[in-house]
Amino acid sequence: MTVYAIIGGTGLAQLQGLTIRQSLPVNTPYGVPSGEIQIGEFAGREVMFLARHGHPHRLPPHRINYRANIWALKQAGAQAILAVNAVGGIHPDMGTGHFCVPHDLVDYTSGRDHTYFADDLEQVTHIDFSHPYSAPLRARLIAALAAEGCAFSDYGVYGCTQGPRLETAAEIVRLERDGCDIVGMTGMPEAALARELELEYACLALVVNPAAGKSSVIIMAEIDLALQSGIGKVKATLARVLSAA
Ligand code: HPA
Repeated sequence: MTVYAIIGGTGLAQLQGLTIRQSLPVNTPYGVPSGEIQIGEFAGREVMFLARHGHPHRLPPHRINYRANIWALKQAGAQAILAVNAVGGIHPDMGTGHFCVPHDLVDYTSGRDHTYFADDLEQVTHIDFSHPYSAPLRARLIAALAAEGCAFSDYGVYGCTQGPRLETAAEIVRLERDGCDIVGMTGMPEAALARELELEYACLALVVNPAAGKSSVIIMAEIDLALQSGIGKVKATLARVLSAA
């Protein structure tokens, strides 16, 4: 049976309903992950959980040790990763509270440790990344969102910005021109690192605000509210994926 790991983003620093059997403090050749890997039972099956920003939430997107996180999950035995990300909505369909299971991404980040193949002078390794997300995992997320009755898009391009500031309105116009439907700060290099370690990976994105320039100003309290009201559906969707898998 596939061993699943959930990476919880903003608003999901803890997975309520997870009966923790073991908390693994891990060190890796790339440093320490965002926190302990919790292993336990959720929705009737064994699952791993890692809070991307730590618990409590303390790491900004550009300070997350993505390499340590993915390495630690692989080391602990994970085979498939369900990544939860809060995002801004760019496409008119992507209103607050809408879900998106992106099928592609554009990486605008810089200066992050983004590969395990940085220092290997013996062998140059290039991974295929034409389709960054796992098709079978995406299909499971899509089926679960439909069964849960959530408003969602079963496609979408995730634009990953560097942060921690939000974007300017002009940057969002540029992202839109580039074909991006949603914008977040944590989708990369996570997805690429998972591919490098041959882990299945898909993203469940929850829109928590209209992207810059798509409404008046972005109000953090409104993002918090959107997170609070969407997180129950996130957990229910994850539970469905796991109990069906
Ligand atoms: N931009 C980037 N990251 C985000 C946003 C946004 O508007 N909302 C939530 N994460």
